[in-house]
Amino acid sequence: HQVDWEISAAEKGGYEHFMLKEILEQPKAVRDTISPRIQNGEVVLDGVELDADYLHGLDKIYVIACGSSYHVGVAAKYILEKLLRKPVEVALASEFRYCDPIVSSRTLALVISQSGETIDTLAALREARRRGARVLSVVNVVGSTIARESDEVLYTWAGPEIAVATTKAYSTQLALVDLIALYAARQMGTIPEAEYAAAVAALEGLPELLEKVLEQREQIQYLASLYFNHPSVFFIGRNLDYAVGLEGSLKLKEISYLHSEAYAAGELKHGTISLIENGTLVVALAGYAPLFEKTMSNVVEVKSRGADVLGLTMEGFEKPMSEAVNHTLTVPAAHPMLLPSLEVVPMQLFAYYVALMHGCDIDKPRNLAKSVTVE
Ligand code: G6P
Repeated sequence: HQVDWEISAAEKGGYEHFMLKEILEQPKAVRDTISPRIQNGEVVLDGVELDADYLHGLDKIYVIACGSSYHVGVAAKYILEKLLRKPVEVALASEFRYCDPIVSSRTLALVISQSGETIDTLAALREARRRGARVLSVVNVVGSTIARESDEVLYTWAGPEIAVATTKAYSTQLALVDLIALYAARQMGTIPEAEYAAAVAALEGLPELLEKVLEQREQIQYLASLYFNHPSVFFIGRNLDYAVGLEGSLKLKEISYLHSEAYAAGELKHGTISLIENGTLVVALAGYAPLFEKTMSNVVEVKSRGADVLGLTMEGFEKPMSEAVNHTLTVPAAHPMLLPSLEVVPMQLFAYYVALMHGCDIDKPRNLAKSVTVE
């Protein structure tokens, strides 16, 4: 046992948990995923060809996944619809299988899976193909079943992910979605030249920005030490901030066993607000500039009902935010497409440190598996 322990400590690169090691590996993982696919300012997708006629002829893009990969899908819907002006539906693989989905040869199924072995996702892939869809998958494990059964596969180069709670695979999936969206928009002519160039350049700068976000580790640990005792936490946000809220909430419940929920900020008043009382912790994500004021109006509502609010926004908005919340975290100012990639990191670290303070088994949380291969 002594030997086992030493081997695993070495594999953890000196860190106490794989999860922390993998969080810190994100700049490299994202760089490895992006850099081979940007050549002379153009996105290239490993020979995957989605030509203009094919893309214009699509009636729908169906994003299919489970867990955190599904949350990437939620962000993908906002990103793809904005750039392509095509309807994007995001489906939980376990639901897709049983809803008689409307799929045809004019449907592109974008299947997202770290392991490439999740049974519901695999079954959904088979169902989508059976109904005539072309399946493009985003997978981390090379040669996995989902990779093999797809029409085309784009790999996330995150490397092996050991912690059950995904971090670097999630980030590389998001980066690949950005690449696919830019590539497709370029093909379809739905993005002006200058905007395309700016977005590609921004994406190339993402790994460096992730490094910057990681520098806030100690501050996030400190905030976790203030808030770890809250019995229940609500994450609110709109648009891309909402997508990140879903993932922030899942990370927290997976590894710290705290009850948490993510809500679209505007939906609060239709239910969750009844649960806000003195001392309830609300994590307010408001980095998406066009909706900053809207989300802040929800912050005021929860504050006035006694909530403690931890805010997360983009540089430039920290002043108005900090006037309304208890503590503010910021991510560097960046292209809006990068928002989820940047915001998810403080959420991962927050969940990590909260779980650490609770003494949880972070890399192997109770009842969860890294890859769910039974239904
Ligand atoms: C499990 C893992 C999650 C993961 C989900 C989907 O529930 O614990 O972290 O997001 O499966 O896995 P996949 O390998 O298909 O991305």
